[in-house]
Amino acid sequence: MFETIKEQPADKILMLMQAFREDPREDKIDLGVGVYKDADGNTPIMRAIKAAEKQLWEDEQTKAYTGLAGDPGFADVMVALVLGDAVARENVAAAATPGGTGAVRQAFDMARMANPNVRVFVSDPTWPNHLSILKHMGIETVMYRYFDNESGGVNFDGMMADLAQAGKGDIVLVHGCCHNPTGANLNATEWKALIDLLNKTGATPMIDLAYQGFGDGLDADAQAVRMVASSVPECLIAASCSKNFGIYRERTGLLMAVAQDGGAKKLNQGTLNYLNRQNFSFPPDHGARLVTYVLSDDALKAEWQAELEEMRTGMLALREQLAGELQRLSGSDRFGFLAQHRGMFSRLGATPEQVETLRRDHGVYMVGDSRMNIAGLNAKTVPLLAEAIVKSGV
Ligand code: LMR
Repeated sequence: MFETIKEQPADKILMLMQAFREDPREDKIDLGVGVYKDADGNTPIMRAIKAAEKQLWEDEQTKAYTGLAGDPGFADVMVALVLGDAVARENVAAAATPGGTGAVRQAFDMARMANPNVRVFVSDPTWPNHLSILKHMGIETVMYRYFDNESGGVNFDGMMADLAQAGKGDIVLVHGCCHNPTGANLNATEWKALIDLLNKTGATPMIDLAYQGFGDGLDADAQAVRMVASSVPECLIAASCSKNFGIYRERTGLLMAVAQDGGAKKLNQGTLNYLNRQNFSFPPDHGARLVTYVLSDDALKAEWQAELEEMRTGMLALREQLAGELQRLSGSDRFGFLAQHRGMFSRLGATPEQVETLRRDHGVYMVGDSRMNIAGLNAKTVPLLAEAIVKSGV
Protein backbone atom coordinates (compact mmCIF):
# COMPACT_ATOMS: atom_id res chain seq x y z
CA MET A 1 0.00 0.00 0.00
CA PHE A 2 2.82 2.43 0.64
CA GLU A 3 3.41 2.84 -3.07
CA THR A 4 0.30 5.00 -3.16
CA ILE A 5 1.96 7.65 -1.02
CA LYS A 6 3.17 10.67 -2.94
CA GLU A 7 6.79 11.61 -2.47
CA GLN A 8 7.10 14.62 -0.21
CA PRO A 9 9.41 17.56 -0.90
CA ALA A 10 12.49 17.53 1.32
CA ASP A 11 12.77 20.39 3.83
CA LYS A 12 14.95 23.03 2.21
CA ILE A 13 16.69 24.12 5.40
CA LEU A 14 17.58 20.55 6.33
CA MET A 15 18.70 19.79 2.76
CA LEU A 16 21.07 22.72 2.92
CA MET A 17 22.49 21.42 6.20
CA GLN A 18 23.29 18.14 4.44
CA ALA A 19 24.79 19.85 1.37
CA PHE A 20 27.08 21.90 3.61
CA ARG A 21 28.31 18.77 5.39
CA GLU A 22 29.14 17.17 2.05
CA ASP A 23 31.06 20.18 0.66
CA PRO A 24 34.81 19.39 0.95
CA ARG A 25 35.95 23.05 0.80
CA GLU A 26 37.72 24.08 3.99
CA ASP A 27 36.77 27.74 3.81
CA LYS A 28 33.02 27.11 3.35
CA ILE A 29 30.69 29.22 5.50
CA ASP A 30 27.46 27.78 6.94
CA LEU A 31 24.72 30.38 7.28
CA GLY A 32 21.94 27.81 6.93
CA VAL A 33 20.04 26.07 9.69
CA GLY A 34 19.09 28.13 12.75
CA VAL A 35 21.53 26.69 15.23
CA TYR A 36 23.74 28.97 17.30
CA LYS A 37 27.48 28.63 16.72
CA ASP A 38 30.37 30.19 18.57
CA ALA A 39 33.36 31.81 16.86
CA ASP A 40 34.92 28.35 16.31
CA GLY A 41 31.79 27.05 14.63
CA ASN A 42 30.78 24.87 17.58
CA THR A 43 27.36 24.64 19.18
CA PRO A 44 28.36 24.30 22.82
CA ILE A 45 26.25 22.87 25.63
CA MET A 46 25.60 25.94 27.76
CA ARG A 47 27.46 26.00 31.08
CA ALA A 48 24.35 26.12 33.25
CA ILE A 49 22.76 23.28 31.28
CA LYS A 50 25.85 21.12 31.77
CA ALA A 51 25.77 21.82 35.51
CA ALA A 52 22.03 21.10 35.67
CA GLU A 53 22.57 17.85 33.81
CA LYS A 54 25.12 16.73 36.39
CA GLN A 55 22.77 17.66 39.21
CA LEU A 56 19.88 15.89 37.54
CA TRP A 57 21.91 12.72 37.19
CA GLU A 58 22.51 12.79 40.94
CA ASP A 59 18.92 13.61 41.85
CA GLU A 60 16.79 11.64 39.45
CA GLN A 61 15.38 8.46 40.97
CA THR A 62 12.88 7.35 38.37
CA LYS A 63 12.06 7.51 34.70
CA ALA A 64 8.37 6.83 35.29
CA TYR A 65 5.90 8.97 33.33
CA THR A 66 5.28 12.57 34.29
CA GLY A 67 1.87 14.13 33.51
CA LEU A 68 0.33 14.55 30.07
CA ALA A 69 1.20 18.24 30.22
CA GLY A 70 4.70 17.45 31.47
CA ASP A 71 6.07 18.42 34.87
CA PRO A 72 4.05 21.35 36.31
CA GLY A 73 7.28 22.93 37.57
CA PHE A 74 8.44 23.36 33.96
CA ALA A 75 5.23 25.13 32.97
CA ASP A 76 5.52 27.45 35.98
CA VAL A 77 9.08 28.58 35.28
CA MET A 78 8.44 28.98 31.56
CA VAL A 79 5.20 30.92 32.01
CA ALA A 80 7.14 33.24 34.33
CA LEU A 81 10.01 33.56 31.83
CA VAL A 82 7.74 34.36 28.91
CA LEU A 83 4.86 36.25 30.49
CA GLY A 84 6.42 37.71 33.64
CA ASP A 85 3.53 39.10 35.64
CA ALA A 86 1.62 40.35 32.60
CA VAL A 87 -1.07 37.69 33.02
CA ALA A 88 -2.32 35.92 36.14
CA ARG A 89 -1.02 32.36 36.31
CA GLU A 90 -4.56 31.02 36.73
CA ASN A 91 -5.39 32.37 33.27
CA VAL A 92 -2.72 30.31 31.55
CA ALA A 93 -3.16 26.67 30.57
CA ALA A 94 0.16 25.14 29.50
CA ALA A 95 1.56 21.87 28.24
CA ALA A 96 5.08 20.76 27.48
CA THR A 97 5.64 19.72 23.87
CA PRO A 98 8.43 18.18 21.79
CA GLY A 99 10.23 21.43 20.96
CA GLY A 100 8.74 24.68 19.76
CA THR A 101 7.61 22.90 16.60
CA GLY A 102 5.56 20.53 18.74
CA ALA A 103 3.92 23.53 20.38
CA VAL A 104 3.17 25.07 16.98
CA ARG A 105 1.61 21.86 15.76
CA GLN A 106 -0.52 21.45 18.90
CA ALA A 107 -1.62 25.09 18.66
CA PHE A 108 -2.86 24.56 15.09
CA ASP A 109 -4.63 21.42 16.25
CA MET A 110 -6.33 23.28 19.09
CA ALA A 111 -7.38 26.09 16.76
CA ARG A 112 -8.91 23.54 14.40
CA MET A 113 -10.78 21.87 17.27
CA ALA A 114 -12.24 25.29 18.12
CA ASN A 115 -13.09 26.03 14.49
CA PRO A 116 -12.87 23.26 11.86
CA ASN A 117 -12.79 25.98 9.18
CA VAL A 118 -10.07 28.01 10.82
CA ARG A 119 -7.84 30.09 8.55
CA VAL A 120 -4.32 30.80 9.70
CA PHE A 121 -2.86 34.14 8.60
CA VAL A 122 0.92 33.91 8.27
CA SER A 123 3.51 36.53 7.45
CA ASP A 124 5.00 36.65 3.97
CA PRO A 125 7.54 35.23 4.45
CA THR A 126 7.44 32.99 7.49
CA TRP A 127 9.34 29.95 8.76
CA PRO A 128 8.75 27.45 5.92
CA ASN A 129 7.77 24.72 8.35
CA HIS A 130 4.75 26.77 9.47
CA LEU A 131 3.47 26.50 5.91
CA SER A 132 4.41 22.88 5.59
CA ILE A 133 2.65 21.84 8.79
CA LEU A 134 -0.47 23.80 7.87
CA LYS A 135 -0.53 22.22 4.44
CA HIS A 136 -0.06 18.77 5.94
CA MET A 137 -2.97 19.40 8.31
CA GLY A 138 -5.16 20.68 5.47
CA ILE A 139 -5.64 24.04 7.19
CA GLU A 140 -6.26 27.06 5.00
CA THR A 141 -3.36 29.48 5.01
CA VAL A 142 -3.62 33.18 4.16
CA MET A 143 -0.42 35.15 3.67
CA TYR A 144 -0.22 38.70 4.94
CA ARG A 145 2.33 41.22 3.65
CA TYR A 146 5.23 41.56 6.05
CA PHE A 147 8.70 42.13 4.64
CA ASP A 148 9.61 45.12 2.53
CA ASN A 149 12.42 43.96 0.24
CA GLU A 150 13.41 47.52 -0.62
CA SER A 151 14.02 48.79 2.89
CA GLY A 152 14.74 45.47 4.62
CA GLY A 153 12.10 46.47 7.18
CA VAL A 154 8.45 45.64 7.85
CA ASN A 155 5.71 46.69 5.44
CA PHE A 156 3.48 47.63 8.33
CA ASP A 157 0.71 49.29 6.32
CA GLY A 158 0.47 46.27 4.03
CA MET A 159 0.40 43.97 7.03
CA MET A 160 -2.40 45.90 8.72
CA ALA A 161 -4.46 46.08 5.53
CA ASP A 162 -4.18 42.33 5.03
CA LEU A 163 -4.87 41.47 8.66
CA ALA A 164 -8.04 43.56 8.61
CA GLN A 165 -9.42 40.63 6.57
CA ALA A 166 -9.00 38.15 9.46
CA GLY A 167 -12.03 37.68 11.65
CA LYS A 168 -13.36 35.82 14.66
CA GLY A 169 -12.47 32.15 14.37
CA ASP A 170 -9.23 32.90 12.47
CA ILE A 171 -5.70 32.71 13.80
CA VAL A 172 -3.11 35.41 13.16
CA LEU A 173 0.33 33.88 13.54
CA VAL A 174 3.05 36.33 14.54
CA HIS A 175 6.66 35.92 15.60
CA GLY A 176 7.10 37.26 19.14
CA CYS A 177 10.62 38.54 18.42
CA CYS A 178 13.51 37.89 16.03
CA HIS A 179 11.33 37.22 12.99
CA ASN A 180 12.36 34.08 11.11
CA PRO A 181 13.44 34.34 8.28
CA THR A 182 13.74 38.11 7.88
CA GLY A 183 15.10 39.52 11.17
CA ALA A 184 12.74 42.51 10.73
CA ASN A 185 10.44 43.19 13.69
CA LEU A 186 7.59 45.46 14.73
CA ASN A 187 8.28 48.30 17.16
CA ALA A 188 6.18 48.86 20.31
CA THR A 189 3.84 51.34 18.62
CA GLU A 190 3.20 48.92 15.79
CA TRP A 191 2.50 46.08 18.22
CA LYS A 192 -0.01 48.31 19.97
CA ALA A 193 -1.74 49.08 16.67
CA LEU A 194 -1.79 45.37 15.80
CA ILE A 195 -3.38 44.57 19.16
CA ASP A 196 -6.07 47.20 18.55
CA LEU A 197 -6.77 45.65 15.17
CA LEU A 198 -7.00 42.15 16.64
CA ASN A 199 -9.42 43.39 19.26
CA LYS A 200 -11.47 45.03 16.55
CA THR A 201 -11.62 42.01 14.23
CA GLY A 202 -11.83 39.34 16.95
CA ALA A 203 -9.14 37.19 15.32
CA THR A 204 -7.04 35.18 17.77
CA PRO A 205 -3.30 35.80 17.87
CA MET A 206 -0.88 32.91 18.00
CA ILE A 207 2.67 33.86 18.89
CA ASP A 208 5.68 31.79 17.94
CA LEU A 209 8.46 32.63 20.38
CA ALA A 210 11.53 30.65 19.38
CA TYR A 211 14.33 33.15 20.03
CA GLN A 212 13.65 34.89 23.35
CA GLY A 213 16.94 36.39 24.50
CA PHE A 214 18.52 36.51 21.03
CA GLY A 215 17.25 39.95 20.05
CA ASP A 216 17.28 42.82 22.56
CA GLY A 217 17.42 40.76 25.78
CA LEU A 218 15.29 38.27 27.68
CA ASP A 219 12.68 40.73 28.94
CA ALA A 220 12.78 43.04 25.95
CA ASP A 221 12.13 40.10 23.62
CA ALA A 222 9.09 39.10 25.68
CA GLN A 223 7.56 42.59 25.74
CA ALA A 224 5.41 42.10 22.67
CA VAL A 225 4.13 38.71 23.86
CA ARG A 226 3.29 40.23 27.23
CA MET A 227 1.49 43.16 25.62
CA VAL A 228 -0.56 40.88 23.41
CA ALA A 229 -1.36 38.34 26.13
CA SER A 230 -2.56 41.02 28.55
CA SER A 231 -4.60 42.96 25.98
CA VAL A 232 -6.61 40.40 24.01
CA PRO A 233 -9.28 38.01 25.31
CA GLU A 234 -7.42 34.87 24.19
CA CYS A 235 -4.13 33.88 22.62
CA LEU A 236 -1.87 30.94 21.99
CA ILE A 237 1.88 31.06 22.61
CA ALA A 238 4.35 28.46 21.34
CA ALA A 239 7.65 28.85 23.18
CA SER A 240 10.82 27.01 22.30
CA CYS A 241 13.77 26.29 24.58
CA SER A 242 15.89 24.92 21.73
CA LYS A 243 17.87 28.06 20.99
CA ASN A 244 17.99 30.07 24.19
CA PHE A 245 18.92 27.03 26.28
CA GLY A 246 20.88 25.40 23.45
CA ILE A 247 19.06 22.08 23.92
CA TYR A 248 17.97 21.54 20.34
CA ARG A 249 17.93 17.74 20.28
CA GLU A 250 16.19 17.42 23.65
CA ARG A 251 12.98 18.74 22.03
CA THR A 252 11.76 21.14 24.69
CA GLY A 253 8.88 23.53 24.21
CA LEU A 254 5.72 24.78 25.88
CA LEU A 255 2.32 25.63 24.45
CA MET A 256 0.36 28.21 26.44
CA ALA A 257 -3.32 28.98 25.97
CA VAL A 258 -4.08 32.30 27.65
CA ALA A 259 -7.65 33.38 28.40
CA GLN A 260 -8.60 36.52 30.30
CA ASP A 261 -11.64 34.59 31.45
CA GLY A 262 -10.04 32.51 34.22
CA GLY A 263 -12.95 30.06 33.98
CA ALA A 264 -11.66 28.91 30.58
CA LYS A 265 -8.44 27.50 32.00
CA LYS A 266 -9.91 24.13 32.97
CA LEU A 267 -11.27 23.51 29.49
CA ASN A 268 -8.08 24.77 27.83
CA GLN A 269 -5.86 22.65 30.06
CA GLY A 270 -7.98 19.60 29.36
CA THR A 271 -7.72 20.28 25.63
CA LEU A 272 -3.92 20.61 25.74
CA ASN A 273 -3.64 17.39 27.76
CA TYR A 274 -5.96 15.61 25.35
CA LEU A 275 -3.99 16.76 22.30
CA ASN A 276 -0.71 15.60 23.81
CA ARG A 277 -2.26 12.21 24.52
CA GLN A 278 -3.56 11.85 20.98
CA ASN A 279 -0.37 12.93 19.26
CA PHE A 280 2.47 11.52 21.33
CA SER A 281 1.15 10.92 24.85
CA PHE A 282 3.70 12.24 27.35
CA PRO A 283 6.07 15.02 26.26
CA PRO A 284 9.85 14.55 26.57
CA ASP A 285 11.04 15.39 30.06
CA HIS A 286 14.83 15.60 30.09
CA GLY A 287 15.25 19.04 28.49
CA ALA A 288 12.24 20.42 30.35
CA ARG A 289 13.76 19.33 33.64
CA LEU A 290 17.09 20.95 32.80
CA VAL A 291 15.30 24.22 32.05
CA THR A 292 13.42 23.92 35.33
CA TYR A 293 16.67 23.40 37.23
CA VAL A 294 18.28 26.40 35.58
CA LEU A 295 15.35 28.76 36.07
CA SER A 296 14.72 27.66 39.67
CA ASP A 297 18.26 28.16 40.93
CA ASP A 298 19.57 31.72 41.26
CA ALA A 299 23.20 30.82 40.56
CA LEU A 300 22.41 28.62 37.55
CA LYS A 301 19.99 31.20 36.21
CA ALA A 302 22.59 33.95 36.47
CA GLU A 303 25.14 31.76 34.70
CA TRP A 304 22.66 30.96 31.94
CA GLN A 305 21.67 34.59 31.48
CA ALA A 306 25.31 35.65 31.30
CA GLU A 307 26.08 33.10 28.60
CA LEU A 308 22.93 33.93 26.64
CA GLU A 309 23.89 37.59 26.81
CA GLU A 310 27.37 36.74 25.46
CA MET A 311 25.70 34.98 22.54
CA ARG A 312 23.28 37.83 21.90
CA THR A 313 25.85 40.61 22.02
CA GLY A 314 28.22 38.51 19.91
CA MET A 315 25.59 38.27 17.17
CA LEU A 316 24.93 42.01 17.40
CA ALA A 317 28.64 42.74 16.98
CA LEU A 318 28.73 40.49 13.89
CA ARG A 319 25.75 42.37 12.46
CA GLU A 320 27.50 45.70 12.97
CA GLN A 321 30.70 44.38 11.46
CA LEU A 322 28.95 42.94 8.42
CA ALA A 323 26.93 46.09 7.77
CA GLY A 324 30.14 48.13 8.11
CA GLU A 325 32.14 45.90 5.74
CA LEU A 326 29.37 45.96 3.17
CA GLN A 327 29.13 49.71 3.40
CA ARG A 328 32.87 49.99 2.83
CA LEU A 329 32.96 47.57 -0.10
CA SER A 330 29.76 48.63 -1.84
CA GLY A 331 30.09 52.32 -1.04
CA SER A 332 26.40 52.45 -0.16
CA ASP A 333 24.21 52.27 2.94
CA ARG A 334 21.79 49.83 1.43
CA PHE A 335 22.88 47.01 3.75
CA GLY A 336 22.37 49.10 6.89
CA PHE A 337 19.26 47.06 7.72
CA LEU A 338 21.53 44.17 8.72
CA ALA A 339 22.50 46.08 11.86
CA GLN A 340 18.87 46.97 12.57
CA HIS A 341 17.60 43.42 12.32
CA ARG A 342 17.46 41.31 15.46
CA GLY A 343 17.91 37.65 16.25
CA MET A 344 19.72 34.92 14.47
CA PHE A 345 18.52 35.70 10.97
CA SER A 346 18.53 38.38 8.35
CA ARG A 347 17.16 38.25 4.87
CA LEU A 348 19.85 39.66 2.63
CA GLY A 349 17.60 40.38 -0.34
CA ALA A 350 19.65 38.38 -2.87
CA THR A 351 18.01 36.65 -5.82
CA PRO A 352 17.96 32.82 -5.94
CA GLU A 353 20.65 33.04 -8.66
CA GLN A 354 22.87 35.16 -6.45
CA VAL A 355 22.34 32.75 -3.55
CA GLU A 356 23.43 29.95 -5.88
CA THR A 357 26.51 31.91 -7.00
CA LEU A 358 27.43 32.51 -3.38
CA ARG A 359 27.26 28.77 -2.71
CA ARG A 360 28.96 27.60 -5.90
CA ASP A 361 31.73 30.17 -6.21
CA HIS A 362 32.32 31.19 -2.61
CA GLY A 363 31.21 28.22 -0.47
CA VAL A 364 28.65 30.42 1.31
CA TYR A 365 25.54 28.48 2.32
CA MET A 366 22.38 30.47 2.97
CA VAL A 367 18.73 29.47 2.54
CA GLY A 368 17.35 30.00 -0.99
CA ASP A 369 15.38 33.09 0.00
CA SER A 370 18.74 34.59 1.13
CA ARG A 371 18.15 34.05 4.85
CA MET A 372 21.47 34.13 6.67
CA ASN A 373 22.17 32.72 10.10
CA ILE A 374 24.34 35.48 11.57
CA ALA A 375 25.68 33.09 14.23
CA GLY A 376 27.35 31.12 11.43
CA LEU A 377 29.87 33.98 11.09
CA ASN A 378 32.88 35.06 13.08
CA ALA A 379 35.09 38.16 12.99
CA LYS A 380 37.35 36.51 10.39
CA THR A 381 34.63 35.27 8.04
CA VAL A 382 32.60 38.50 8.00
CA PRO A 383 34.98 40.28 5.56
CA LEU A 384 35.04 37.15 3.35
CA LEU A 385 31.27 37.06 3.28
CA ALA A 386 31.02 40.77 2.54
CA GLU A 387 33.41 40.38 -0.36
CA ALA A 388 31.52 37.37 -1.69
CA ILE A 389 28.20 39.24 -1.45
CA VAL A 390 29.51 42.22 -3.41
CA LYS A 391 31.27 40.00 -5.97
CA SER A 392 28.06 38.05 -6.52
CA GLY A 393 26.33 41.25 -7.55
CA VAL A 394 23.89 41.48 -4.63
C1 LMR B 1 15.50 27.18 11.37
O1 LMR B 1 14.60 27.94 11.01
O2 LMR B 1 16.54 27.02 10.73
C2 LMR B 1 15.33 26.46 12.67
O3 LMR B 1 14.13 26.78 13.27
C3 LMR B 1 15.57 25.01 12.54
C4 LMR B 1 14.48 24.30 11.81
O4 LMR B 1 13.98 23.32 12.37
O5 LMR B 1 14.14 24.69 10.69
